[in-house]
Amino acid sequence: MSKNCAVILAGGEGTRMHSQKPKVMAELLFKPMIDHVLAAVKKAGIKDVCVVTGYQAQILEAHLSGRAYTVRQTQRLGTGHAVMQAEDYLRTHEFDNVLILNGDAPFMDSVTISEALAYHESRGFVQTVISARIENPYGYGRIVRDFNGDFCAIVEEASADKETKKINEINSGAMWFRKNDLLSLLSKITNNNSKGEYYLTDTVSIAVNEKLRVGAYTAKNADAVLGANTRLQLNELNELLRRKILERLMLTGVSIPCTDGVIIDNETEIGADTVILPGTIIKEGCKIGENCVIGPNTVLYKTSVGDNSTLNQVQAEDAVVGENANLGPFVHLRPNAVLGDHVHCGNFVEVKNSNVGDHTSVSHLTYVGDSDIGKGVNFGCGVVTVNFNGKTKNRCTVGDDVFIGCNTNLIAPVSVGSRAYIAAGSTITDEVPSDALAIARSRQQNKPGWVLRKKPYRDKKY
Ligand code: UD1
Ligand code: CA
Repeated sequence: MSKNCAVILAGGEGTRMHSQKPKVMAELLFKPMIDHVLAAVKKAGIKDVCVVTGYQAQILEAHLSGRAYTVRQTQRLGTGHAVMQAEDYLRTHEFDNVLILNGDAPFMDSVTISEALAYHESRGFVQTVISARIENPYGYGRIVRDFNGDFCAIVEEASADKETKKINEINSGAMWFRKNDLLSLLSKITNNNSKGEYYLTDTVSIAVNEKLRVGAYTAKNADAVLGANTRLQLNELNELLRRKILERLMLTGVSIPCTDGVIIDNETEIGADTVILPGTIIKEGCKIGENCVIGPNTVLYKTSVGDNSTLNQVQAEDAVVGENANLGPFVHLRPNAVLGDHVHCGNFVEVKNSNVGDHTSVSHLTYVGDSDIGKGVNFGCGVVTVNFNGKTKNRCTVGDDVFIGCNTNLIAPVSVGSRAYIAAGSTITDEVPSDALAIARSRQQNKPGWVLRKKPYRDKKY
């Protein structure tokens, strides 16, 4: 197998985005466009990646840190000039082929990349451009073929005559090169054009003049070429991708009766018979079981949900929810909330960095933080694990089948043994043994006739 790398061009400012960030940081379904491109490259099995940064380079370098090698293009002198910035990287590494990609074309996919490589290698081309046939080719470089149908040049919109402008096969911006041929072709590009830029696309006619074999591989997925220059186009891409993902899910057994406000990350696995209701956003790193009801208005991030669970108006991040759970409305699961099977959390319940055992019920207005809660525990309304003393965080431990009365404060660190009862309104500071009843509140006193004597009211208001 050949050893290949990718060079991703991401130096552009994207003036029409009106952004302080590099254009490739504009997000498509909550992920910067560059991340979509990187994911396609990795999925195609290409491990070595060099990204050419330029406008607001430091933002992109920080974003890519540890994931890709970067080189800076200090002046934007065109796509050919951008690739030249990677020359040292290419010279000092052993590669057979180089894939050039535009960082602002987030729909490029691994299948198109791999099929184009196979086409490139099997035909022994020095350069294979990935092309696509699209309805409206305006703005793209056109693929020019000779009378035999052989690919011979790319002509940019600005340089195209009337006939050339009619061509609807366009350059996606993605192309495979044999590494050594790329380096030699780059040295021959000039900036003799109306914009005074070094066009990477000029390599085609240079190669053809030198009788080198070049090809154009037409992508089966024409969307692979789509890019966004404005936020309006970004919205169109978001809609297109959102719809594609929802359609794929629906065809594998997920019900989405109304797609309004439903946004789901591409990698999400969702089991059959699960229903997703409006206003639900499932970001990256989530896995949902079968036969669940998620939503309305639920936001999940890095969260897994077991089969048969219901999440109504839940916000969860870095959380695990077991099977047959019933959460909501208005539940907040913060990082490391791990809920077992058959857990119930009702309105205004927050769980953070805690384990909650099977069949435990936390029905109303409760905070469970930094705690280990057993199975079958019942939390009364308004229980608080007091996990922070102003300096340090401490844990609460609650055994199985404990009954915690309403408005209990568990002052951490503290533990409650299995089957214990805690009287409502208690502030628990010391260990409660198993099977004990803890009452930690002052005894009620009644003072008969006190109101009649003291007359604490002013005049009656009604
Ligand atoms: C380019 C192609 C065009 C193709 C289109 C596909 C050229 C000359 N034209 O045009 O044939 O149809 O892509 O979308 O290659 N970049 C840099 N540094 C620069 C200039 C650009 O890093 O100096 C980066 C941009 O950030 C972008 C990519 O290169 O990610 C493409 O540049 P852009 O200016 O968008 O090229 P297009 O005009 O779209
Ligand atoms: Ca572009």
